[in-house]
Amino acid sequence: MKVTIHKLFDYLLETTSAEPPECFIGFSLARSPRLKDFLTDLDPELSLDWNGKSFLGLPALRQRVLDQAGLDLPLDSVLITAGAAEANYLLFRQLVQAGDEIITESPGWPQAGVMAKAIGAKLVEVARDEARGWGLDPEAVARAITPRTRMIFLTNPNNPTGRLVPEADLRALADLAERHGIWLVVDEVYAGLEWVGARSPSIAGMTRFGITTGSVSKALGLQGLRTGWMICQSPDVIRDTMILRENGSEIMNVLGEHIAEVALRPERLAAALGRAREDGRATLDLLDRFVSDEARLSWHRPEAGLIGLARVEGVDGESLARALLKPPYRTFLLPGSAYGLPHHIRIGAGGGPEARLNEGLERLSAALRDLA
Ligand SMILES: Cc1ncc(COP(=O)(O)O)c(C=O)c1O
Repeated sequence: MKVTIHKLFDYLLETTSAEPPECFIGFSLARSPRLKDFLTDLDPELSLDWNGKSFLGLPALRQRVLDQAGLDLPLDSVLITAGAAEANYLLFRQLVQAGDEIITESPGWPQAGVMAKAIGAKLVEVARDEARGWGLDPEAVARAITPRTRMIFLTNPNNPTGRLVPEADLRALADLAERHGIWLVVDEVYAGLEWVGARSPSIAGMTRFGITTGSVSKALGLQGLRTGWMICQSPDVIRDTMILRENGSEIMNVLGEHIAEVALRPERLAAALGRAREDGRATLDLLDRFVSDEARLSWHRPEAGLIGLARVEGVDGESLARALLKPPYRTFLLPGSAYGLPHHIRIGAGGGPEARLNEGLERLSAALRDLA
């Protein structure tokens, strides 16, 4: 079946094709570097031809990907893709068949639902518990497994709540995957900006059924490079997804790979994450104070990443988001309805000064007052 649009993308398409907003309270990316920041480390003689390169992606980049994830795995356990989104897409298409079941979290990244529908698979959602800070119970995941379960798909840190899966729970999930022979795909695209504790271990190192997806898009703000990856110990998974990729984008974007390789060099990575953490912590503090001062908002501050989910009292999240987009506010945020949660809004601290977060928050306060 063809892939059909999800509410989240529909809302984005609709609202970004109208008059552009002036302020954003929704950005999930750290401030984006400029091309000039990389020029000193790029070779001007670099050939933009592709011949002679590996179909898995630049070996030096694959090594950086393993290093930043803290994984001691062979280079051929990495496939470079056009972002984490393409890595997920290839996995859904090659690992799941019509009639299979995919277990995912709710709220979570909508790609699992979109792809399950297109493939003719059943989506089984396990609710994250708002009362427990949006925690995911591995026992609830275990109860959702049936003989038809083919894949568990999770985000860690979670989009949209910023909640982390504790290491012990990741181990429990890895054990489940082993015991039942189920692929455990963990989208780690928001890893690197942890506010509570250390970065979670990558699932690809915890079980041969674990598949990590990620990219340079979020913590490094390099979304426009379209450079991401999957990591998996199974050569068959890497081969099967590479075969599908050959029939889509064929190979990787050579320039994107080179810039990503530079961005992931240890000294550059540490400096970029240091800056993103400093900015992110300050803007999250601001969001936190804002939410506690607004009587009609409440949230669980994200444990990682730059986005979180706030509950709104007295008005539904989508009416608020739509009113906020219009004059005089002209401010963008995502309504919780994009995640099936009508009483929430997704707020984000990313984007740097261009997001004009302070002004956006003042406008959100005004809209909450005006809509009272
Ligand atoms: C959980 C999750 N996965 C994947 C993506 C896409 O990321 P990329 O730019 O790496 O394709 C996003 C983007 O918002 C996301 O939130």
